[in-house]
Amino acid sequence: MSDRSPPHKRRVAGSLKERLIQQALDRRGQEPEPVASEPAAGHANGVPEAFYRFHLHPVYQELRIMHEGAERLGITPPFFRRHDGIAGATTSIGGNALINYASYNYLGLNGHPAVEEAAIAAIRRYGTSASASRPVSGERPIHRELERSLAELYDVDDAVVMVSGHATNVTVIGHLFGPRDLILHDELIHNSVLQGALLSGARRLSFPHNDWQALDRLLHEQRHAFERVLVVVEGIYSMDGDYPDLPRFVEVKERHKAFLMVDEAHSLGVMGAKGLGIREHFGLPGGAVDLWMGTLSKALASCGGYIAGEQALVEHLKFLAPGFLYSVGMPPPVAAAALAALELLRKEPERVTQLQANGTLFLELARAKGIETGPSTGLAVIPAITGNSIQAARLSTTLFEAGINVQPIIHPAVPEKGARLRFFVSSEHTEQQIRDTIDTLAQHWTTVA
Ligand SMILES: Cc1ncc(COP(=O)(O)O)c(C=O)c1O
Repeated sequence: MSDRSPPHKRRVAGSLKERLIQQALDRRGQEPEPVASEPAAGHANGVPEAFYRFHLHPVYQELRIMHEGAERLGITPPFFRRHDGIAGATTSIGGNALINYASYNYLGLNGHPAVEEAAIAAIRRYGTSASASRPVSGERPIHRELERSLAELYDVDDAVVMVSGHATNVTVIGHLFGPRDLILHDELIHNSVLQGALLSGARRLSFPHNDWQALDRLLHEQRHAFERVLVVVEGIYSMDGDYPDLPRFVEVKERHKAFLMVDEAHSLGVMGAKGLGIREHFGLPGGAVDLWMGTLSKALASCGGYIAGEQALVEHLKFLAPGFLYSVGMPPPVAAAALAALELLRKEPERVTQLQANGTLFLELARAKGIETGPSTGLAVIPAITGNSIQAARLSTTLFEAGINVQPIIHPAVPEKGARLRFFVSSEHTEQQIRDTIDTLAQHWTTVA
């Protein structure tokens, strides 16, 4: 089951960080000040200042405490680093060349000439914006070409693309489900699914990671009490690089007459011999899953999200999902870039082969050096789990100084014990770059292990 307590009530481990956070939590845990009948000092018309000033927002104050703590520990913030150009297997930050593991450019298609040319041609023809919601007057032929291509990839009736991957999950789940429904999701599911579930007002429960048997039990207990039930899993989990036994999930959802949604943000272009995702990997028919969801921002070098599935689903979303109906159409160059990337994926499956080989090499070398990589399968996402946020941040800084760009993932994005560096491997990394990276990582790993 998910931790449904408010984030500020969850236990946080760690030494200095723990104390800093605890101070903030203690402050937040206090009873709210009663609204005074007489205006008091620091109150305007009896309203405490904290209720109308952003800098007194308790969550912002927690953030400040974290930043100040990091500063006191001499940790350079690893966030918002400015890349000078295209970030692929290598990048340049502040004029310094680095091997890069912090971008989703899995197949090296961001910056590919064919993708750039397609985007430029779309700008020349349609301009930079769709200038309206698609049902109103934002429709361009390129939108339908992209959607047809995605539907073909999944062997389903149709697809719809939206301007953001995150917003796709929020609006689709938020729109299709309601208070009489149940949403069951893997405990490691992406934030966008959680936000969609919250918006829907449905009952939300999580099941242990990848545990289809626990899901089956939950459905046995709960199914009868709800109208629609949605089960959500990811194709490849974005923090751990592992994947569910999808055929088992399909059996469970069929047994209990539930809908199954698979978020392929990190599996499209990565999994399966031709990079067609988890469906190809397991040899499933398109109809095995009710909602194929994915993002265009990772392997497809663009931006946006999609849903592919049966006609009634896609038509429903195109006419009524608020995030589609009341939002501008995808910018034509963005759609054109994704379509060109999809064409390259079909024409050049050797990119996928190389990506998978690179991931396997990275994982094997890391494990051989005793680096904790969790359940990663080596499919593009490989964590190096330090188990401590401060150590993850320090290790990221050390590697950065040694010419390797990799982001730390720290609490609250993962539990404190799961703090890590997350490596995104690309088809463009060379064997030498991977070997050098593991050597450097292993050299500094002893300081955290
Ligand atoms: C599993 C998953 N779903 C959805 C999203 C949101 O996609 P986007 O960043 O394209 O909005 C992400 C982003 O990283 C993700 O990892």
